[in-house]
Amino acid sequence: MLTKSNLRIGLFDSGVGGLTVLREVYRQLPQESLLYFADSARLPYGTRSPEEILQFVREILDWMCAQGVKMIIMACNTSSALALEIVRKEYDIPILGVILSGAKAAVATGKRIGVIATPATVASNAYPQAIQEIDPFTSVWQMPCPQFVPLIEQNLVYCDRTKEVARRYLEPLLQQDIDTLVYGCTHYRHLEGIIRSLLPDRVRVIDPAKYIVMAAEKELSIMSLKNNLSALPTRFCVSGSPQQFASLSRQWLGFTPNVEQINVKEPSIFMMTLNLLQ
Ligand code: DGL
Repeated sequence: MLTKSNLRIGLFDSGVGGLTVLREVYRQLPQESLLYFADSARLPYGTRSPEEILQFVREILDWMCAQGVKMIIMACNTSSALALEIVRKEYDIPILGVILSGAKAAVATGKRIGVIATPATVASNAYPQAIQEIDPFTSVWQMPCPQFVPLIEQNLVYCDRTKEVARRYLEPLLQQDIDTLVYGCTHYRHLEGIIRSLLPDRVRVIDPAKYIVMAAEKELSIMSLKNNLSALPTRFCVSGSPQQFASLSRQWLGFTPNVEQINVKEPSIFMMTLNLLQ
């Protein structure tokens, strides 16, 4: 018999950034079935206003809940920074964000922490607040990196221009003699080769993706929600072009996903049926 524990975990991001979290779920929780949503028609989120981000997040959560998921992971720092605290009170489902997991891992690693993130995440101050709440003696410097997400989404990951942009973003943090660098945007892990090549060996890199999945595992155990069947194929949905998402994401997934286009603003058939029955 199917139970709640057999439902999918929902993950979402503005685009391909959340795939860095999805890959961690594949690695750490291979038995879980997943639903991935990329709001690619409306990316980047990082230059949107807090009101817009909150509205988008609510639309995605409504849609995901209507699909029947048992937990939602915000595989997006910008959404986690701007909307997590608010929507957690509005939805009756466990919702996890990346910031706290990333902050805890950073504090356990170093004392002089650099955070690269989207302009909206930097403006929210979510990382410095979370880090300094855990350890007030830690110093934090942030750097907004508005060009990274468009470059990654246009598949310009391996070009010289991207390396030059990265050098410019990292320079002020390196001048502060940071010992730890946090990927404060899930997209940035896709630039790992470039970023690591620009960092001295003494700087350790924190990818919150790894730690949010560890937190998800704990939560599933506590709530007795771990899947006891084998995983279903991941369902991939986007608001933009399915072909574009499929061809871009192949390099990180190792396979070409089947991608559905959906409109999160349309009430689903499932919700409409429920309403009619009430
Ligand atoms: N990958 C997301 C994040 O972690 C969103 C990036 C964007 O769309 O600007 O912040």
